[in-house]
Amino acid sequence: MKKETTEIMHYGEKPAQYKGAVIPPIFQNTLFTFEDWDAIDRAYDYPEENYIYSRGNNPTATVVEEKLAQLAHGEKAKLFASGMAAISAAMLHFSKANGHIIAIKNSYGPAKNFIEQFLVAKMGMTVTYVSGKDVAEFADALQAETCIIYLESPSSVIFSLQDLAAVATLAKQHHVKTIIDNTWATPIFQKPLTLGIDLEVHSCTKYIGGHSDVVAGVMIGSKVDLDQIFHQEHALLGGKIAPFEAWLLLRSLRTLPLRMNQFQKNGMKVAQYLEAHPKIAKVYYPGLASFEQAELANKQMSGFSSLMSVELQTDSIEQIKRFVNKLEIFQIGVSWGGFESLVYVPAISYMKEMSVEAIADAGISLRNIRIAIGLEDADDLITDLEQALNVVE
Ligand SMILES: Cc1ncc(COP(=O)(O)O)c(C=O)c1O
Repeated sequence: MKKETTEIMHYGEKPAQYKGAVIPPIFQNTLFTFEDWDAIDRAYDYPEENYIYSRGNNPTATVVEEKLAQLAHGEKAKLFASGMAAISAAMLHFSKANGHIIAIKNSYGPAKNFIEQFLVAKMGMTVTYVSGKDVAEFADALQAETCIIYLESPSSVIFSLQDLAAVATLAKQHHVKTIIDNTWATPIFQKPLTLGIDLEVHSCTKYIGGHSDVVAGVMIGSKVDLDQIFHQEHALLGGKIAPFEAWLLLRSLRTLPLRMNQFQKNGMKVAQYLEAHPKIAKVYYPGLASFEQAELANKQMSGFSSLMSVELQTDSIEQIKRFVNKLEIFQIGVSWGGFESLVYVPAISYMKEMSVEAIADAGISLRNIRIAIGLEDADDLITDLEQALNVVE
């Protein structure tokens, strides 16, 4: 078995099929032509395996899908136009009218909005939110109609974890399907399918893309599930990736292990610096030895990426603003996982989208500051943070 770093460079690539080109071409075409009636007739026996129309399969996307499936130890992967396209397709696939879903209360906001605005409001499903820190919460929430357990580990904003192997075992006993948003850890640092989770989704917009130039998503799982999703949610909702975006992801994958290694080094160094700083009240980062679920973090992840959040000692929004505005290398912006360091205060958008009660119920502090550590030199980032913390009273 080759090492992942070697595998990701070459797996799924067939240079002989594209004149020896060292980089597979962008197959910028809508349809594929056939020699005769029988040839297209045969292709339609297995549309999920063949190239017929680019809303289904496209060879540029296939190379990336094969690499990601291999990396996650899944049987098959399907790329989508965005992380949300993959997440909504995954949830729709396992949903049923009047069914019940158990979801993590700190999962990515729009994933929760999808549950509320589609599964609940339009399909008559009910939802139970859990913190997910204790497997007993899932056991208590189970109902006869439960069809999905939706996980995100580490979760958004506070990076809390779920014990993936324990939740998967429980779900299998009750014939409930499990989906995890594995965007934070990437398949480099966490392999949920090997722990029994059914389907893994990612926003490839983050670390997998890594260059802040492509919005995309992926779903990875068993051949049976992925083939059904190919025919149903992928084909019917049509949220396919563009060939050029897939090609950009192919470029990104070649450096994914390298980048994740560096993100981990930078993330850890900055998190340790912040934790020791007198003006910082709390650092939320699963890589720290002081993280409340550190044991589980080390058990189910082989490494840590570099998105974290902090709370200053002060509650004053004015002071938080001063800190954020004073940063020079860190740019203000949403998203994360790119080469560049970013800062964002979730309260800016949460206060426009959610009630104060809903924010508190999700365990989110309005003074939470999200920090995405990029690939700049960690000492430069620390110097920048230091001079910005100096202006906080
Ligand atoms: C944890 C997480 N999952 C999913 C998404 C959605 O991904 P996309 O923006 O590619 O649709 C995001 C985007 O910020 C995210 O943070």
